[in-house]
Amino acid sequence: MTTPAPVLLAHDDLGAGRPVLLVHGFPLSRRLWAPQVEELSSRWRVIAPDLRGHGASPAPGGTCTMTHHAADLIALLERAQTGPVALVGLSMGGYIAFELLRRRPDMVGALVLASTRAEADTDQGKERRRTLARMVTEAGVDAFVDEFLPGLLSETAARERPDLVAQVRQIMVETSPAGAAGSLLGMAERPANTRMLDSIGVPTLIVAGREDRAIPLEAAETMQRAIPGATLARLGGGHLLNLEHPAEFNRELVRFLHEHWT
Ligand code: MLT
Repeated sequence: MTTPAPVLLAHDDLGAGRPVLLVHGFPLSRRLWAPQVEELSSRWRVIAPDLRGHGASPAPGGTCTMTHHAADLIALLERAQTGPVALVGLSMGGYIAFELLRRRPDMVGALVLASTRAEADTDQGKERRRTLARMVTEAGVDAFVDEFLPGLLSETAARERPDLVAQVRQIMVETSPAGAAGSLLGMAERPANTRMLDSIGVPTLIVAGREDRAIPLEAAETMQRAIPGATLARLGGGHLLNLEHPAEFNRELVRFLHEHWT
């Protein structure tokens, strides 16, 4: 396995205790985790990076695979001398978590997979990513946000929570066009992670939203059946359920960390 050269990631490193790494989804930033950082940092050391091309982290350009993202995170954890972490990945953060686990299982002591899936994209899904990458490169992030944002929130939140819609939009437009295009092309290339599920040997919590419009609940149920001992929390809300329902999301996360990571 070759390892790409890592980039230095902008990140928060708050609190003390066993380390928890929060890996955001696409096209977002560590700001996604604000409700979780506030809750967890009184009991744990919480590390929340901006992935390359997102938030305040640099975008070197080109296709950015899950391997690039995982290499950046491994370098960050090594520099911060964390030792093994509880790895929390939401959506694309989950795809990256699988890659990190494959490369450095010694760095992962517990795993939380939120709003994510183990399958690769279908051919149609890959084509949509390439179309979106072209759109963001030619027309900028704003045009792309209109196309992508509806999938990130439940219909209920989209209808009744203009504050939340505006908050998510604001986080999205801070992603650079090169960063967004790079990760779109990288996600299209990602392998299926289904075959590694039954070899995951760390405590695992899966969290999924009943109203997720981007990734169906069945993807979470498939992971739960395959990962030994994994538990599945089905919550209300859509894809970004940690923002839509922070209290419920935090309750599941804190319960899991208390049990497996104190
Ligand atoms: C994400 O939230 O990271 C994306 O929706 C993931 C994806 O597009 O597959």
